[in-house]
Amino acid sequence: MAEKQRIVIVNGPNLNLLGAREPNQYGHESLESINRRLAELAGEIGAECEFLQFNGEGDLVAAIQAAAGADGVILNAGAYTHYSFAIRDAIAAVAAPVVEVHLSNVHSREEFRHTSVLAPVCRGVIAGFGADSYFLALRALVGASGRLI
Ligand code: DQA
Repeated sequence: MAEKQRIVIVNGPNLNLLGAREPNQYGHESLESINRRLAELAGEIGAECEFLQFNGEGDLVAAIQAAAGADGVILNAGAYTHYSFAIRDAIAAVAAPVVEVHLSNVHSREEFRHTSVLAPVCRGVIAGFGADSYFLALRALVGASGRLI
């Protein structure tokens, strides 16, 4: 049997509050519950996920560096998306493909959310599908056949 693809899922600031935080924007499901469902999907498609969440920018930089050898990274950097050049440089420094995800459609919200300084160095961006943004990213990275994008 083919080796499992290792996908690291990294969430940034305030995403630990999912479920309770602005449910009109981000839904009612907790991060723990989303992660549990992602682990199930990963098992079905021949992948295994590692789940990380940090509120601090430096911790996110370290997490991306540590994921350099993974088969893929799914990253919701929260508000850092819009201005963190340190996180952008970390993404550019690693070989692993990084998919930027957002629960909300950042382009339909305040103007400061329309800019992502991370997107140009990411493999792709998925935004606006609620928790499904993570599931779409996992399927995109692993593919139906376990082949990486
Ligand atoms: C977010 C969008 C960001 O603008 C915001 O700061 C977040 C969550 C999203 O998932 O929709 O914290 O990344």
